[in-house]
Amino acid sequence: MKVAGRTAFITGGGSGVGLGQAKVFAEAGCKIAIADIRQDHLDEAVAWFEQNGHAVMPVKLDITDPAAYAAAADAVEAKLGPVELLFNTAGVSVFGPLLQATAEDWEWQMSVNVRGVINGVQTFVPRMIERKNGGHVVNTGSMSSFIALPRTGIYCATKMAIRGYTETLAAEVAEHGIGVSLLCPGPVNTNIHESVLSRPAHLQNTGYYGADPEVFAHLKKVIEFGMEPETLAQHVLKAVENNQLYILAYPEFRETLEDIHARVMSSFADPKDDPDYEKRLAIGVPGGKKKEPVDG
Ligand code: NAI
Repeated sequence: MKVAGRTAFITGGGSGVGLGQAKVFAEAGCKIAIADIRQDHLDEAVAWFEQNGHAVMPVKLDITDPAAYAAAADAVEAKLGPVELLFNTAGVSVFGPLLQATAEDWEWQMSVNVRGVINGVQTFVPRMIERKNGGHVVNTGSMSSFIALPRTGIYCATKMAIRGYTETLAAEVAEHGIGVSLLCPGPVNTNIHESVLSRPAHLQNTGYYGADPEVFAHLKKVIEFGMEPETLAQHVLKAVENNQLYILAYPEFRETLEDIHARVMSSFADPKDDPDYEKRLAIGVPGGKKKEPVDG
């Protein structure tokens, strides 16, 4: 797909990965709307766009609220025209052992990282289908969409959910000329260490940490050597242009994924031990192998 001239709606566009996407797609000739829950992030982003001579439409939005999402979509399309590029980028994290998590820790991360992405798709993809002019959706997962590490349990569950959701969506909307990508970053130099600052008042009860400057400083150390958001967004631009499902910009994770894959493959039962295997093979189960009829 050629992106120039198309309208992009970018959640989390006020900071980090989303802001990088906003800059790179603006430079590629797109009309840009950035949606974010933090007004200070929107203001800083708008200042960059003004300084660099690009137009941008900021939208204050909590992506977990479907009614507010629909209103934001209407406002953006009224001003910038049909949204044909959707970036579900906003996401949050708070880390710690699973058994210390409160219901609110789960609710917050699931609502932003999963429900927020679903709200984006439910809002814009039916509009794209109806207009019959194609489009592309980029959902931001993480290497945690593939790799489970201790203390990342909630985040990892949300990002693995997004992988399943995105792969299914890709298969379902391809016939409408809509491409779908799953962006799986490793560390990116962003403000994600401050995630808890956007946590809603009714979900403040946590088993982990709150707005603690020491924790922020520690978390920032892990990501400040990460990829710059604009560099990552260049990978995204190529993937959208080439309709690529997986955006895996971090080759240092290749061996870990190979190991996981090998472990999965070595866990399959042996068909010789299964009296019903041939029966199932003859019928073919969804997603599984089907025995081809022998010719003649
Ligand atoms: P960031 O914190 O710099 O940017 C995220 C933006 O989303 C912030 O401006 C925040 O205000 C906004 N946001 C949070 N909750 C929102 C809500 N309910 N509604 C609307 N906006 C909301 O963080 P970053 O790193 O740019 O995160 C973007 C995505 O990248 C996330 O999905 C994250 O999980 C993912 N990611 C980040 C990695 C990293 O190392 N920074 C690694 C892997 C994935």
